[in-house]
Amino acid sequence: MSKPSPAIAEASSYRRWFDPPFYDELNAAVACGFHVCLNGPRGTGKTTAIKELASGWGKKLHVIQVHADLTIEELRGEPGLREGNSTFQRSPVVVAAERGDWVLFDEANLARPGVTAWMNNVLDDDGVVSIPATGELIPVARAFRCFFSWATREHVSSIRRWWTGAA
Ligand SMILES: Nc1ncnc2c1ncn2[C@@H]1O[C@H](COP(=O)(O)OP(=O)(O)OP(=O)(O)O)[C@@H](O)[C@H]1O
Ligand SMILES: [Mg+2]
Repeated sequence: MSKPSPAIAEASSYRRWFDPPFYDELNAAVACGFHVCLNGPRGTGKTTAIKELASGWGKKLHVIQVHADLTIEELRGEPGLREGNSTFQRSPVVVAAERGDWVLFDEANLARPGVTAWMNNVLDDDGVVSIPATGELIPVARAFRCFFSWATREHVSSIRRWWTGAA
């Protein structure tokens, strides 16, 4: 393959990330202890901004690609069997809630109503995650943050927030 032309080499050396217009508000929402819902037109950098923010805050971000068949059971984890004993592998959402990591629900508008209803318990102040398979009630760490992103036709990305009670 031939070398890129000097013009292409120069263009690719530019800073790859620039702050989008909604970045300050997004950052402030997180600093204030909110969970965030981010909407806007396709390709305006919603997903990228949340990943960049997580990296800036030094937070582990678990990305859940939401789809219409996503179930509450999947969001809790995966039951299994090892050497005749029941096991339960916690899902990334449960691990994040317990540790205080961040979770991005991408294309969150595709979730079934039951799934979002289950998330309410997790997002509430003093939230808990219930795991019926093990009988556990796992308290949600105060540092836990959820981001819900999906595309709309509105021209300006809008940020809606849920207060978590934590700063
Ligand atoms: N602030 C930015 N600086 C540089 N490149 C960016 C920025 N934001 C987004 N991009 C680039 O633009 C493309 C689209 O970004 P992204 O996927 O984050 O958009 P989106 O709003 O989540 O789109 P969709 O609604 O389709 O999910 C990606 O290739 C990404 O790398
Ligand atoms: Mg996206």
